[in-house]
Amino acid sequence: MQVAILTISDRAARGQREDVSGPALRERIQAQGWEVTAQAIVPDEIPAIQETLVHWADVRDYDLILTTGGTGFAPRDVTPEATLAVVERPAPGLAEAMRAASLNITPHAMLSRAAAGIRGRTLIINLPGSPKAAVENLQVVLPVLPHAVQLLREDPQAEAGHTKR
Ligand code: MTE
Repeated sequence: MQVAILTISDRAARGQREDVSGPALRERIQAQGWEVTAQAIVPDEIPAIQETLVHWADVRDYDLILTTGGTGFAPRDVTPEATLAVVERPAPGLAEAMRAASLNITPHAMLSRAAAGIRGRTLIINLPGSPKAAVENLQVVLPVLPHAVQLLREDPQAEAGHTKR
């Protein structure tokens, strides 16, 4: 599983704030035994976000792209819009599950507008910006990611995954 992590934050992109969430996600992914192949920081700008997502999906053909940040209600929070503009097939179940599980932790989960979807054979998932929220949300979808990627890659093993619960 080749995973790319994109931190979306004006202040982190300007070097005014350390990116803590990107490294936290990286650690969690590596603990899973998966490879973090690329990691980048972009400001909360739709063109910059789209450009990175498209390059990582179309040229690099990564299995999974995790974004962190820009999913809330602040005027500059545009990650879901940039994501939905480049995905070919939305995967709302992932975002629904993350919000549902997060509501058990904080009512602020309702304020996450995170989206998820598929471009080519790449799955793109938005996560919130704080390291705590990003990792909590990742934990929710983590168990289904191997099967999701198997299906996208048309791996013959994918059939076996249907019998597992
Ligand atoms: N989900 C979990 N599991 N834990 C959290 O602490 N924080 C919420 C929400 N989802 C949170 C969470 C908050 S406070 C906000 S504003 C939204 O995610 C969006 O976060 P973002 O604007 O940093 O992307």
